[in-house]
Amino acid sequence: MKSTVIQSSFYDEQESSSCDSMSYLVVYYSRTGNNRTLAEAIAKGLSADADEIVDKKNRKGRLNWLRAGSDSRGGKLTEIEYQKNPQDYDTIIIGAPIWAFNPIPPIRTYLQEVDLKGKRVAFFICSQTEAYNEMFPQLIEMTPDSEHIANFGIQDKRFKNEDYSAELEAFIDKVR
Ligand SMILES: Cc1cc2nc3c(=O)[nH]c(=O)nc-3n(C[C@H](O)[C@H](O)[C@H](O)COP(=O)(O)O)c2cc1C
Repeated sequence: MKSTVIQSSFYDEQESSSCDSMSYLVVYYSRTGNNRTLAEAIAKGLSADADEIVDKKNRKGRLNWLRAGSDSRGGKLTEIEYQKNPQDYDTIIIGAPIWAFNPIPPIRTYLQEVDLKGKRVAFFICSQTEAYNEMFPQLIEMTPDSEHIANFGIQDKRFKNEDYSAELEAFIDKVR
């Protein structure tokens, strides 16, 4: 009789811990560090793994800045590297800047390369303007088979000068 009780409480614990064991991956591209900072804060808040997408195309310097804009405007893809397989996670949180009012080539490429079917997906963007409001619908369209749970956008000037922690925490809560 005693062992039955112990067994059933062990089973309950397993069940409840499996609810807590949602796995999160924060994937991001950042050229100058803004979206990296956000990614790190989100990953910390969710106890998530983080994975930086590396664009094999050199994006440093003035000429490459211009090319980055025209590649983005043209909807170009690029060669990228990343370490983690999103298939291993329940929820994937994807963040990047905006270039030339378009989703950037490394993110376009990532969304083409990986299979996010059935995954919970959230997006975050730090950009100079509020163009993230137009970007989120495009990113959602690019991941038609995912469950879209939340978006977080912030302008560079707020990111640098203001306390946005309450909004970021609200986003993290939605994702959780
Ligand atoms: C080539 C290029 C084009 C950009 N175009 C836009 C744009 O169209 N709209 C916008 O709001 N911000 C634009 N930005 C600004 C970045 O999105 C913004 O500074 C962002 O915070 C940079 O993020 P990061 O530090 O993670 O790279 C552009 C930046 C670059 C380098």
